[in-house]
Amino acid sequence: MSETIIRIEHLYKTFGTGDGKVEALQDINLDIQKGEIFGIIGLSGAGKSTLVRCINLLERPTSGTVTVDGQELTALKEKDLRKARRGMSMIFQGFNLLMQRTSLQNICFPLELSGGKGDKAAREKRAKELLEIVGLPDKADAYPVQLSGGQKQRIAIARALADNPQVLLCDEATSALDPTTTQSILDLLKKINREMGVTVVVITHEMRVVEQICDRVAILDGGVIQEQGDVSEIFSNPRTEAGRRLVMPNGEKIHVLPENRLVRLAFNGTTSGEPIIARLAAQQGICLNIISADTRTIGDKSFGTMVLGLPQDETEAARALIYLREIPGVTAEEVTDLVQ
Ligand SMILES: Nc1ncnc2c1ncn2[C@@H]1O[C@H](COP(=O)(O)OP(=O)(O)OP(=O)(O)O)[C@@H](O)[C@H]1O
Ligand SMILES: [Mg+2]
Repeated sequence: MSETIIRIEHLYKTFGTGDGKVEALQDINLDIQKGEIFGIIGLSGAGKSTLVRCINLLERPTSGTVTVDGQELTALKEKDLRKARRGMSMIFQGFNLLMQRTSLQNICFPLELSGGKGDKAAREKRAKELLEIVGLPDKADAYPVQLSGGQKQRIAIARALADNPQVLLCDEATSALDPTTTQSILDLLKKINREMGVTVVVITHEMRVVEQICDRVAILDGGVIQEQGDVSEIFSNPRTEAGRRLVMPNGEKIHVLPENRLVRLAFNGTTSGEPIIARLAAQQGICLNIISADTRTIGDKSFGTMVLGLPQDETEAARALIYLREIPGVTAEEVTDLVQ
């Protein structure tokens, strides 16, 4: 049984007024489950940072509610809100470490603020445990300038975990890192999620990041959630224009005769495309054009979509559709909304 930890309902955020008015978020509805890794993906300016700041109420929504672990944050007074926020912490693209403090002191900092974990010795003990968890036990006395980007992010993660949050919010946490370092930070986030049970919300513009670690994803575009669901489903078969732009950044540029009917196949990992086309030709004598294909591997499964042009002959087209719809692991759907 899954349990909701973050519920966002009818959330709007508007900045400014009159001509300068920006509707950064419009009617956002999200349910994030306890223990999952949830991705929010969108292009620059989509409203991702605004949304994540609305989750911990660093930014007050213009309207709508945010409920975390059963407590409606939008209804709390500042003092209670400060307490509730302790259950959530955040990491950023720029790490935001205190430059005058060593790694150990950076990690102790939130504990000093919250008064949690007892005296200085207890705080340092906790900080050392965290240095182990993030794989940098030997960097306790290093200052941020002495650390690489990946190491800085590890210290920032340790600091974020110091007060045992239930939720870790990550705003483009790997966007400043090279691919190998990105991978190691994503592995660490996954480990923290699995071993410590921390719910992780990942904000990113990179689909690779979502593919690697997220269970579910929401696509944010122009301040609106265009679609959300399981990563495998959304990435193998994006249903909205915004989804396709993110998932297939090269675009599905299609040049077909207007009279061609099109069918989109979505593969769920049990089969792949080419043999299907070959079999259809061999067994049924029906030839389909591959208009575009985009398959990829997520986890240990292969997924993807393929768009085929159906034969102009109506009977043949109908037979092909019946055949395609009966293949296990494949969803076949006629499409009318692809760019010509
Ligand atoms: N404090 C603010 N005042 C006015 N407008 C703002 C403010 N913060 C954000 N915006 C506007 O809200 C929209 C969403 O911005 P936001 O920073 O949330 O996008 P983002 O998806 O995080 O982008 P990026 O990927 O570049 O970080 C943008 O049009 C931005 O200009
Ligand atoms: Mg941002």
